[in-house]
Amino acid sequence: MTYAPARAELADPAAAFIAQEELRGAHNYHPLPIVVAQAEGSWITDVTGRRYLDCLAGYSALNFGHRHPELVAAARAQLDRVTLTSRAFHHDQLGPFCAELADLAGKDMVLPMNTGAEAVETALKVVRKWGYEVKGVPENEATVVVAEGNFHGRTISLVSASTDPQARGGFGPFTPGFRTVPYGDAAAIEAAIDDTTVAVLIEPIQGEAGVIIPPAGYLAAVREICTRRQVLFAADEIQSGLARAGTTFACDHEDVRPDLYLLGKALGGGVVPVSAVVADRAVLGVIRPGEHGSTFGGNPLACAVGRAVVRLLSTGVYQRRARELGARLAGRLDELVGHGVVRFRVRGLWAGIDLDPVRGTGRDACERLAERGVLAKDTQGSTIRLAPPLVVEEAELDWAIDQLAAVVRPG
Ligand SMILES: Cc1ncc(COP(=O)(O)O)c(C=O)c1O
Repeated sequence: MTYAPARAELADPAAAFIAQEELRGAHNYHPLPIVVAQAEGSWITDVTGRRYLDCLAGYSALNFGHRHPELVAAARAQLDRVTLTSRAFHHDQLGPFCAELADLAGKDMVLPMNTGAEAVETALKVVRKWGYEVKGVPENEATVVVAEGNFHGRTISLVSASTDPQARGGFGPFTPGFRTVPYGDAAAIEAAIDDTTVAVLIEPIQGEAGVIIPPAGYLAAVREICTRRQVLFAADEIQSGLARAGTTFACDHEDVRPDLYLLGKALGGGVVPVSAVVADRAVLGVIRPGEHGSTFGGNPLACAVGRAVVRLLSTGVYQRRARELGARLAGRLDELVGHGVVRFRVRGLWAGIDLDPVRGTGRDACERLAERGVLAKDTQGSTIRLAPPLVVEEAELDWAIDQLAAVVRPG
């Protein structure tokens, strides 16, 4: 099928790109009608030259902003040397990347992959194998406890662990071995564990569910239960980790160290997909040659960018910015409660804002925000997520909240 732009589309370059994408791209997303041409820091420019403040930041993949100079420089330098070897050969970026990331997390080892979903899949394989080889679970009986409302990715096994009918519908048969408990309920986790349980897999903050922050003490209780019951604690920090929540990891809020950190998104600096499972040797050591891998996982370009991300995180600057700007964001959102906002949750520079449904859907609000130059994303009907790049200026954040106030305040 050939794409022939209509007369109106020729006059409107954005409409032409959207029409072509609709026609030739699978409809697995429903984007806002903005066609991005360029971006820098916290700002996006569309094909018509209009600028927008990015308040989604690639679902936290752009924690350091668009095209952070140090990340771009690291990528450029590596582009001039070597980009891909496959894991059939060693290269001079993988060892340093693993060591530096493992040190950041206070763990022994790293297993690099590409997308977040692959990191979670990798973790599931690791905890199952650990269960059989170390814990002594009978073969093929391993179970993993997961939480209602989770989002771990889109593969068959991850939608098998999901409770979202839209994510699962039409994709069965599902992978067995998951036990689902309410999020935030440590006693339910304890009750779900038996001799077959190899891991508890949770997000320390549930992003897609609407930035759901568990009750204080939950993560510490999960840690205690997992240790006492000889079960691994796998924390999916793909969206919550790497400074977004005001600390290097969201688990740091309760001073909790999970057995496995699942990382992605910001680990690639918004430049390349980089994900990883980070754990001690007693856990990751169960994987031996030939048992798991990826052609692109741990490639030189990814590792060079990942190393630059770890360097940025080592300064603590982004964690501090997330805390300080997040406190400001919370203060400003407080003013909107009862004025179009029903309630909100903030951790670091990350907010889930439940709008008054009488004022329309979250999607409606995001469309109106876009008209005012602010890009955000709705979730769960009438919730909006705000997660600007951590390089956003205070005045820019204030301006974004002013736009939100204008959109949601009853007229
Ligand atoms: C907590 C969490 N885990 C896993 C994923 C999946 O990551 P990816 O889309 O890179 O596969 C996401 C993506 O939104 C996520 O938020």
